[in-house]
Amino acid sequence: MLPALARTSLRASHVSAAARTAVAARHLSTSQVNSDVNRVTVFGAGLMGAGIAQISAQANLKVTLCDVTDKALEVEWSGWTNPGSCSPLSSRTRQAKVTTRKIKPTDIDRNGLNIISKSVARVAKKKAPEDVEGFTQRVLANIETTTDTEKAVSNTDLVVEAIIENIKIKRDLFGYLDKKAPASTIFASNTSSLSITEIAEACSDARQANFAGLHFFNPVPAMKLVEVIKTDKTSEETFKTLYEITKKMGKVPVSCRDTPGFIVNRLLVPYMLEAIRMIERGDATAEDIDTAMKLGAGYPMGPFELLDFVGLDTTQYIADGWVEKAKDGAVPLELVTPPQVLKDLVKKGELGRKSGKGFYDYSDAKK
Ligand SMILES: NC(=O)c1ccc[n+]([C@@H]2O[C@H](COP(=O)([O-])OP(=O)(O)OC[C@H]3O[C@@H](n4cnc5c(N)ncnc54)[C@H](O)[C@@H]3O)[C@@H](O)[C@H]2O)c1
Repeated sequence: MLPALARTSLRASHVSAAARTAVAARHLSTSQVNSDVNRVTVFGAGLMGAGIAQISAQANLKVTLCDVTDKALEVEWSGWTNPGSCSPLSSRTRQAKVTTRKIKPTDIDRNGLNIISKSVARVAKKKAPEDVEGFTQRVLANIETTTDTEKAVSNTDLVVEAIIENIKIKRDLFGYLDKKAPASTIFASNTSSLSITEIAEACSDARQANFAGLHFFNPVPAMKLVEVIKTDKTSEETFKTLYEITKKMGKVPVSCRDTPGFIVNRLLVPYMLEAIRMIERGDATAEDIDTAMKLGAGYPMGPFELLDFVGLDTTQYIADGWVEKAKDGAVPLELVTPPQVLKDLVKKGELGRKSGKGFYDYSDAKK
């Protein structure tokens, strides 16, 4: 491991000559990594990005949350008892480009700062019941927001990308960031189904050594697991740094090669698709399959409850992507071909919990 060089010392006005030399050497090297991560930039202030920003801030890292739209970064003040004296934003954050347009209720579930504010308050009740407000403010004070992509990475140790699941858009973003971020900054993608290698190839060879996957699970603050994904080019130092930083974030890291679905989805998606094929063949009902897997295999949810939770469109999207990969032999075609029942439900807009109906009906809100 490289000797740790705290970023704070880089910003101090009295940076020593030795430190300046060390920094210069690091920037000249082709694949050096800043293994002392203090600043994290998260791209995408949606469901996952908000969670990643939150756990990073809880670990006392300085976080910049960046999105293309202000809508994802606005604050719904009504959740705060006394917004005047209890602003959830630090002074640095207030200087950032945060607008206060009234947001529609439909925006709220995908709005990063609202997701974080509510979630941190829940964590605070458990972790610091005697000082919920103080805990919440300390965490939120570690987060600043911006829509300025270049500024967001000008001085960061780690970039975690959690934007839309689209390879071209992810590659465009990383290709741009590669030119703007310090050479030692580590890049990580939270993609669920895309190849980390293919995303990383948008960057220079040197950056590809500092590039890996960090696959968090939803909801991020509650789910302990993170899959750390190594490509053939990921350096050992990058991998180790990510492994350690996820532990600092309170997670349990596991290591996996860059293979479709990594560990969890590689096993889970074919299992869910086979459960759908079982009802297509008339082997059993969705209810009985769910009961069987909960009581017989000890799973907390049955496959159809899980499908409705994940979203049927998301599942079909992953399966469709893997059908393409099957052509290169990366995954067996029969395991990943989306069943007709799944395609029909997606076509009808019955996507699971989020649309009110999927394999189960949620309109009475009992399920
Ligand atoms: N939702 C899940 O259960 C889950 C679980 C694990 C991993 N993932 C992965 O995490 C990523 C994000 O998923 P999500 O559910 O949080 O999505 P989301 O739709 O909730 O949020 C995506 C956010 O990214 C923003 N965005 C789009 N392009 C951007 C850009 N160029 N720069 C900055 N921001 C940009 C959007 O405005 C939006 O706010 C995807 O790659 C997804 O596969 C999702």
